[in-house]
Amino acid sequence: MTMIAPSLLAADFSRIGEEARRAFEAGADWLHLDIMDGHFVDNISFGPEICAAVRKAVGPDRFLDAHLMIERPDHYFGRFVKAGVNLICFHVELGDEYYIRNTLKRIRRAGVKNGLAVNPATPFETLLPFLGEIDLLLVMSVVPGFGGQSFMPSVLDKVVKAAEWRADHQASFLIQMDGGIGKNNADQCALAGADVLVAGSSTFKAADMAQAIAEMK
Ligand code: DX5
Ligand code: ZN
Repeated sequence: MTMIAPSLLAADFSRIGEEARRAFEAGADWLHLDIMDGHFVDNISFGPEICAAVRKAVGPDRFLDAHLMIERPDHYFGRFVKAGVNLICFHVELGDEYYIRNTLKRIRRAGVKNGLAVNPATPFETLLPFLGEIDLLLVMSVVPGFGGQSFMPSVLDKVVKAAEWRADHQASFLIQMDGGIGKNNADQCALAGADVLVAGSSTFKAADMAQAIAEMK
């Protein structure tokens, strides 16, 4: 079944630990942590200290996936590993082939899963050199930087291509989609081949988060 990863970006930041627990109690499979540095995207969110606090709040067994929208993920990822996240994803737009491949390798070597994110405007072909070396492919369905934006259906084509590539090459990476996802488009994403759906506004801002997650599933 498709997994749901609520994005903590849409939570009430004055009660961040409780909000993280609330997501898992409502049936979240993963919790998605959006890290923004004010350079790669035009917004600043939170860093490793908050991630460590979230880990403490939810206990050791919950799956935390960190989506790094930052420059120099190679320099910073170790701090998120220390904070206790299970997966670290960064953007393919950030560097040349050597930089991306090397950073992917270093993340795995640090003992966590790696992931590569792709912006709506970046073509599928950019990902081809790396698809055999990742645990997760994150297909962005909005321009990253802010929660609450509208879903861009044009990116579904990339999800279909990634799922085809995966089948053809007997690869096993998960396909995640992120941005503007809720009960009205979750089925399209799953049909295209997505395994994990990130949902911020449609979960944390719902009147009943458990119902919102159940409806998407
Ligand atoms: C966008 C972030 C998303 C976003 C999702 O930059 O990567 O994770 O918070 O939020 P919604 O579901 O509200 O679009
Ligand atoms: Zn995200």
